[in-house]
Amino acid sequence: MIYRITLAFLLSAFTITSVVAAPSIQARRGLVVSANTISSEIGVDIMKQGGNAMDAAVATAFALAVTHPTAGNIGGGGFLVYRPDKGAPITYDFREMAPASAFPEMWLVDGEYNFEKHHLSHWSVGVPGTVAGLYLAWEDHGTLPWKDLVQPAINLAKGGIEVSTHLAESLQKALPRMQDYPASLKKFTTDGIPFEPGHLWKQSDLAASLRRIANSGPNGFYKGKTAELIVADMKANDGLITLEDLANYRAKKRQPVFGNYRGYKIISMPPPSSGGTILIEMLNILEGFPLADYGSGSADTLHLMTEAMRRAFEDRARYLGDPDYDESIPLDRLLSKSHADSLRTTINLNKASASQPPSVNQQKESPETTHFSIVDQHRNAVALTYTLEFSYGSGIVAPGTGFLLNNEMGDFNAGPGITTDQGLIGTPSNLAGPSKRMLSSMTPTILEKDDQLFMVTGTPGGRTIINTVMQTIINVVDYGMNAQEAVDAGRIHHQWLPDQLNYENGRFPEEILNELRERGHLLKAQNSQGVAEVIINNIEADILKGGVDQRIPDGGAGIW
Ligand code: DON
Repeated sequence: MIYRITLAFLLSAFTITSVVAAPSIQARRGLVVSANTISSEIGVDIMKQGGNAMDAAVATAFALAVTHPTAGNIGGGGFLVYRPDKGAPITYDFREMAPASAFPEMWLVDGEYNFEKHHLSHWSVGVPGTVAGLYLAWEDHGTLPWKDLVQPAINLAKGGIEVSTHLAESLQKALPRMQDYPASLKKFTTDGIPFEPGHLWKQSDLAASLRRIANSGPNGFYKGKTAELIVADMKANDGLITLEDLANYRAKKRQPVFGNYRGYKIISMPPPSSGGTILIEMLNILEGFPLADYGSGSADTLHLMTEAMRRAFEDRARYLGDPDYDESIPLDRLLSKSHADSLRTTINLNKASASQPPSVNQQKESPETTHFSIVDQHRNAVALTYTLEFSYGSGIVAPGTGFLLNNEMGDFNAGPGITTDQGLIGTPSNLAGPSKRMLSSMTPTILEKDDQLFMVTGTPGGRTIINTVMQTIINVVDYGMNAQEAVDAGRIHHQWLPDQLNYENGRFPEEILNELRERGHLLKAQNSQGVAEVIINNIEADILKGGVDQRIPDGGAGIW
């Protein structure tokens, strides 16, 4: 069968359902909110066995690799922000790395940019980071044996999980681009027949890969059988990743970026994610406006948020990339109140600015990544976002491994100087290079109030991530919403280029949208933006409240 693959098709591999307001979730001792209820419950079980938030995070992440294959992974990468109840917060960077043979022009074929090569080939696969990152974070902060944290995922993979309606539908849409990869079809079909809802799905190769990780830690992934299987598939398909690339992968501990918004301390992810920096830059700009007086969802508030987004995303494109490659990133300046002050003076309350250069679009990004938030009984907190990039990543399963490989190399810019009105970006800071980390937007974030844990938040959604996280924070801090209300509220997105304001369809009154149009914004309706998972610590009552995003089904909380 011949399938015609389009970007729109790829991005539709995940079905949006209508949103129904859900009651707030409450827990006294521990809470996990994630895109999959079974995985959240596994995290809470680990806490009940005496584990802390980090132990729960490791177990939840491995469980999501079984239950939530669009984004849960061991073949991808991500970021983790940890705030211990006592001691300094820290972040873990387990972003994928380019293979050592990567180079800036690698996405060109005969001098022309090639989308397939960039996003849907063995070249699009970055060296995975998840296993190394979870292990490093666990070595520093975990308390239960490593094996015990991987075991629940092994049990799920071996024993099988019931395919939900949502998963069955999403898989149906993803299968066409797996047609060239027999091991992917083996994993995701029964002899080529798509799974029906209710099917008991067993993943024996994945269970074996997880077993090697349980027994040997990162060596059970980056060396030995799993590494050999990945490299064999690379060799068979003109891929670039070698045994050395895998053995040389390192997760990194990085100092968080810090901000302060109306007295709340923001703790978030530094480069190679742009998330924390751009989040803080936008909040700094908006702090100078009385958003509470303007009101949630008012034209003034939405206009000002858009103008803050426009300015911060321009800085993102100009300055941000892998900090280990470019030590000149002006992080302090981007995070400073004075930078925000000067940007704020350029905002006209009644009129949209124009993004420059106006003719350039940016690429769409897939809405598949996943975030979870965890708080334990001691109020240690984890915000973790990880991804395969597209929904189901590259669609490639290396035979015998049972897990999907990412296509995160697609987050590198298209090539030197290649900036086109089709949406390619060619700025130098994020060009591909040997062993370089590609720029991300993932924004796992923790807030403190009066030196105590206040809020844990994050979401998937490509570049929209940063704006969704910003809006969940403002919903709580400025508008006093509870966790569920903050998650449910409608969202907007602007990313400098294209000069276009996206809004979630059906969530904003037409008169507000018209007012924004009158101020000069070009509006575009979107089905849905992000899947935020939020926890708020009610310090006085000593209760945790959770908001689970209903924008996709299957999400849920583990409560203790
Ligand atoms: O790292 C990034 O920003 C993207 N690769 C994340 C992709 C994503 O969020 C896709 N879906 N949500």
